[in-house]
Amino acid sequence: ARRWELGAHRRLEKGKVVSVVVLDGWGEAAPDPFNCIHVADTPTLDALKKGAPERWRLIKAHGTAVGLPTDDDMGNSEVGHNALGAGQIYAQGAKLVDMALASGKIYEGEGFKYIQQSFENGTLHLIGLLSDGGVHSRIDQLQLLLKGASEHGAKRIRVHILTDGRDVLDGSSVKFVEMLENDLAKLREKGVDARIASGGGRMYVTMDRYENDWQVVKRGWDAQVLGEAPHKFQNALEAVKKLREDPKANDQYLPPFVIVDERGRPVGQIMDGDAVVTFNFRADRMVMLAKALEYKNFDKFDRVRLPEIRYAGMLQYDGELKLPSHFLVAPPEIERTSGEYLAHNGIRTYACSETVKFGHVTFFWNGNRSGYFNPNLEKYEEIPSDIGIPFNEHPKMKAVEVAEKARDAILSRKYDQVRVNIANGDMVGHTGDIQATIIGCKAADDAVKIILDAIEQVGGIFVVTADHGNAEDMVKRDKSGKPLRDKDGNVQPLTSHTLNPVPIAIGGPGLQSGVRFRSDLPNAGLANVAATVMNLHGFEAPDHYEPTLIEVTN
Ligand code: 3PG
Ligand code: CO
Repeated sequence: ARRWELGAHRRLEKGKVVSVVVLDGWGEAAPDPFNCIHVADTPTLDALKKGAPERWRLIKAHGTAVGLPTDDDMGNSEVGHNALGAGQIYAQGAKLVDMALASGKIYEGEGFKYIQQSFENGTLHLIGLLSDGGVHSRIDQLQLLLKGASEHGAKRIRVHILTDGRDVLDGSSVKFVEMLENDLAKLREKGVDARIASGGGRMYVTMDRYENDWQVVKRGWDAQVLGEAPHKFQNALEAVKKLREDPKANDQYLPPFVIVDERGRPVGQIMDGDAVVTFNFRADRMVMLAKALEYKNFDKFDRVRLPEIRYAGMLQYDGELKLPSHFLVAPPEIERTSGEYLAHNGIRTYACSETVKFGHVTFFWNGNRSGYFNPNLEKYEEIPSDIGIPFNEHPKMKAVEVAEKARDAILSRKYDQVRVNIANGDMVGHTGDIQATIIGCKAADDAVKIILDAIEQVGGIFVVTADHGNAEDMVKRDKSGKPLRDKDGNVQPLTSHTLNPVPIAIGGPGLQSGVRFRSDLPNAGLANVAATVMNLHGFEAPDHYEPTLIEVTN
């Protein structure tokens, strides 16, 4: 067995306060009017880039560098923070599901066998995000699962869709519903009673995270389980098109709807004896629904009726809680994270973010593990996010509040590592609102300044990096990179993440002279950061970690 004790670094001292700042959704791209980071006033980050060329560089944050299936996959916060914290590259959920579907092993597993018991007399319900975004789910995986489930005995299938417009272009929901309806029609030709039963926009229905707002999950529950929603349609394509006619409507926030028959009765409530699969592979926005579906005792909202179902997640979403207890594909086993090593080596850690990113710097950072490694050494603090208003209406979010908490933690000298996530580039970037994103980027820069000033005061070290791109490119482009415009000359906003690399900067008065980025790792990525941070705490990184980004030259 590997030891937990880390060797002392030969050149770098222990005992410095190290602050790790993750700017969410902050990639590097050429200057451009749709590069909000470039347009925004960001003197702190600009100074890091221009100041010391040997202490600023770019690292990969997408694709295979972070364990995603291909290099066409944009990065995301889950895999990004996993890599940052774990120091190793793991095949991630998206890839594990691809492999299980391709080999057919998914149908031989415990999870599928379990739900299969309901196929004879019950309905199979599939609930999840309908797009090809590849962050939480993928429609091609849903298509394969529909086909496979029907070949393995499912006779009645109901799909409860969540429209995206966040990891993919707004408006693309129509195309994805058409694709799904085509597949369901083919199944019906084969005698399978397969239909869409309900729907709603992901940010308004079901896919809340970190218990920010349980009402979001309740809206979904009412539509999916109870068959109740403010909007009723006989056809899902018509539903999405009609609901989008409201000038303020978008895919992310479509209101909940149910599909009803000619007599107005819902076609797909979830009933006793049914099977349910949540087909998202990513945990953060499915775990709340998983609790509602699985827990006998539950007080987050009135479920009205708790059907007796067989429920499986595409993956197990929380390994500590063993939730859900049944799942189709085993999640990546992310082990020996830097957080666990550092706790074993006496490093006192403070981590903070606002609610919408809180699990990113704790749960994801620690390899999808909830709670502390050592409660005597660690403190995790959450600043409540504003709820109920879209983030483009308050783009500064809680950046300064988070930074002030970090400042206080640094100045207290009670911690060796102070780690934060600053959410603006990502959360405001996802709204597609360019002006708001510019304001959000400035707020993030202000927050970094507060933290760097505190590091200056205590003679500490900072690491400023990001988890993936978003705010640096806010427009859909053609192949040559030119923004696409409609006939009125309006550009189509890009709400999703990007494939761009992210910056990493190190510095602070505690950083010994002669420390600089190595030049022999041009393809380094987020997974190289953990070893780097361990070095800055005065430790050598474990051998099985991706190599450190730094060297000491004098
Ligand atoms: C979301 O869940 O908000 C997006 O799909 C991905 O954003 P994140 O990976 O930055 O959390
Ligand atoms: Co994001």
